[in-house]
Amino acid sequence: MINFSFAVLISGNGSNLQAMIDAIEEKKIQGRICCVLSNKENAYGLIRAKEVGISTEVVNNENYSTREEFDSKMIEVLAGYQPNLIVLAGFMRILSPIFVKSYRERILNIHPSLLPKFPGLDTHRRVLESSETRHGVTVHFVDDTLDGGPICSQSSILIKTNSPIELKKKIHELEYELYPKVINWFGQGRLTQVKDKVYLDNKELNIGERNES
Ligand code: GAR
Repeated sequence: MINFSFAVLISGNGSNLQAMIDAIEEKKIQGRICCVLSNKENAYGLIRAKEVGISTEVVNNENYSTREEFDSKMIEVLAGYQPNLIVLAGFMRILSPIFVKSYRERILNIHPSLLPKFPGLDTHRRVLESSETRHGVTVHFVDDTLDGGPICSQSSILIKTNSPIELKKKIHELEYELYPKVINWFGQGRLTQVKDKVYLDNKELNIGERNES
């Protein structure tokens, strides 16, 4: 029996969610998605979830006057599913300390840059405008800062285009490989966060530091 279950939080297209659904089907993730929660009613990812019979929830942030009220509602809704892990996949909200504490050391995010470089939006264009020769993706545990928290894994490519659209496509391909792999590590108990440190197979990882320039 599969005991590992995770909730996926989205705001939009959900192509990473689709990669997880496919990875579960292919047994690359040994676990199940207990719920997909979106802060946007019209997120396409909700349709992807419904198509394969995954429960969906919408908590519209516009209905709450503070981040804390919004996060408290998400906590209440997610409690009904008892997820082992929260997976952010294009969820475009910064989580408040209330939420982060509630799922302490059990929240993952994926971000399209080699963090700590280029947090925030529009990373592909910004990378092309910089002098970087490589671009990539990062999966990290989540704290209450923008794209912040200790890093679990990264993958990267040499930049061979001037087009942000083409670069985004390449980066998405990396995301679809990397995120399911890291989620499965967590599900198998191989990946853990302890305070601000990450351990894989009991070995401490220090991935972000090598990107600091
Ligand atoms: C992904 O590229 C993900 O890395 C990014 O949003 C996209 C969502 O695409 N996340 C962030 O920028 C987080 N700061 P998707 O909805 O098709 O999975």
